[in-house]
Amino acid sequence: MRFGPKGLGVLLLLVSLALGSGVSVCDARSGKHWRQKTAPSTSMFRRKGKGKSSGSSHRQYGRGHQPSPSTGPGVPASPSGSPVQGKGQQSPPMPTPCPGGGNGYASPSPPPPLQPSLPTPQAAPTPPPPQAPPPTPSEETSQDTVFNVLAFGAKGDGVTDDTQAFEAAWAAACKVEASMVLVPSELVFVVGPISFSGPNCEPNILFQLDGTIAAKTGARAWGSGLLQWLEFTKLNGITIQGSGIINGRGQEWWTYSDHNDDDDMDAYSEELEKMPQIKPTALRFYGSSSVRVTGISIVNSSQCHLKFDSCQAVMVHNLTISSPEDSPNTDGIHLQNSKDVNIHHIDLACGDDCISIQTGCSDINIHNVNCGPGHGISIGSLGRYNTKACVSNITVRDVKMFRTMTGVRIKTWQGGSGLVQNIRFANIQMSEVQTPIMIDQFYCDRTTCTNQTSAVEVSGVQYENIRGTFTIKPAHFACSDSSPCSDITLTGIQLRPLVVPQYHMCSAFCWQAFGELYTPAVPPIPCLQVGKPAGNRVLSDHDLC
Ligand SMILES: *[C@@H]1O[C@H](CO)[C@@H](O)[C@H](O)[C@H]1NC(C)=O
Ligand SMILES: *[C@@H]1O[C@H](CO)[C@@H](O)[C@H](O)[C@H]1NC(C)=O
Ligand SMILES: *[C@@H]1O[C@H](CO)[C@@H](O)[C@H](O)[C@H]1NC(C)=O
Ligand SMILES: *[C@@H]1O[C@H](CO)[C@@H](O)[C@H](O)[C@H]1NC(C)=O
Repeated sequence: MRFGPKGLGVLLLLVSLALGSGVSVCDARSGKHWRQKTAPSTSMFRRKGKGKSSGSSHRQYGRGHQPSPSTGPGVPASPSGSPVQGKGQQSPPMPTPCPGGGNGYASPSPPPPLQPSLPTPQAAPTPPPPQAPPPTPSEETSQDTVFNVLAFGAKGDGVTDDTQAFEAAWAAACKVEASMVLVPSELVFVVGPISFSGPNCEPNILFQLDGTIAAKTGARAWGSGLLQWLEFTKLNGITIQGSGIINGRGQEWWTYSDHNDDDDMDAYSEELEKMPQIKPTALRFYGSSSVRVTGISIVNSSQCHLKFDSCQAVMVHNLTISSPEDSPNTDGIHLQNSKDVNIHHIDLACGDDCISIQTGCSDINIHNVNCGPGHGISIGSLGRYNTKACVSNITVRDVKMFRTMTGVRIKTWQGGSGLVQNIRFANIQMSEVQTPIMIDQFYCDRTTCTNQTSAVEVSGVQYENIRGTFTIKPAHFACSDSSPCSDITLTGIQLRPLVVPQYHMCSAFCWQAFGELYTPAVPPIPCLQVGKPAGNRVLSDHDLC
């Protein structure tokens, strides 16, 4: 978990608010060139949009993540061939410092009224943990292939801790090939952290989730911090299906991690103070193959909702994932070290990336997904702490983005190595997206990041039919000097600016971005350099993926 320096965040937020009142709007968006009025300030804002502000008129996170003029490595003072931008702009390679946070980690919408800071668990706040040993299931039940959690002593009353019953039902199902764990409908089962784990389980277990599973609330259930709440590990053939709900009841975690941003400290209780810093992912699959998740909803996770790590042959479809726009770090789906993943017909609304594709992923196919609010669909961030990252063969198509921060994005840290290649983004409908298209090789979620030469390479990225409206900038390609982005191709880009008062409109930005526009883009992206980067460096073994 990363937490920005909160105090500074608040300060910058206030500064940005103050400046915000003087923000000019693009004055010639109907003309051939867009022009940006002189920025009232060149303050660079940087903070990953984690955390929320407290009911200000504008939820802008002041600190963007782009390289600031003082942090770009080997940045010429006034690079030649600088992209034509409006007057009064900083010289590249810095992305245009738009007032209001050029890359905006913020929502274009006026802030929804904040929820009261106290969590509002659906069930009684602190259920007495009666933990009676589950009754031993009858002989016939255990010979059956269906293992109903009620038969193992679960109450499903929304209060009782049913953790042990779930563990017992799993232990029984684990021994039977193609068995079913049944979580019956219309009941709410409160459970603490559970690992449904192999490797000694029989294959092809079905977890039929028709009721609701709700996370325990209060700090006590989480010890000193756990990475996940419900975990399925080392299984071969595991399906979760049904019309049920997994409810992470993350409210108190969100409140906790944000309490410094809240003016209303009164609402902040000692119980919340005890919530561990590490927030659990709601549902995580690890080291498994032939994984299917379908039908269910996952809501209000304290952190990421659904994660696949080191999995193969994954199918996720007909799913709903939701948490409030202002819930910090609540990614929708995270993929890491996973191959052969299909994700489709998903509705995602959350406070961070709708889908995030991390290192070690290849052969990922995402389509017919709705995303928003949220931060869009992202590859990365990659290469943090000088690590090597390899991501390849990713298709994202037929996606609708609504009011997201970015649309389709690739983000890498300075200093990494490895390669992102063969990426296709096609038929993406953008509505009120701040920056629909982004590659950022200077990703930084802190105030400053050290200048470093190496970078995770980005090569072979196709954008086809990216349409709709944006509120800040149509495209942003900030690539590194040492490994410029290559083979970026764009076809059918038709994006319309939508002026919203709190943002300053900018034209497309490129630095060290090479490729080709197959059809004229609307608005134009004249900054893309045609062809290949000169003196393309030779990849060392270290870089090979
Ligand atoms: C990063 O590089 C730029 C340009 O070379 C330089 O001006 C700046 O001081 C450097 N920043 C750090 C933190 O080293
Ligand atoms: C999607 O899931 C819901 C249950 O949440 C189910 O009722 C519906 O039939 C499923 N649709 C498809 C196309 O599978
Ligand atoms: C999720 O959290 C939001 C904000 O606290 C709340 O309004 C909503 O009812 C919650 N959803 C569920 C299913 O608990
Ligand atoms: C990506 O696709 C190419 C072409 O289909 C294939 O040769 C390559 O092995 C794939 N890469 C990975 C890591 O699967």
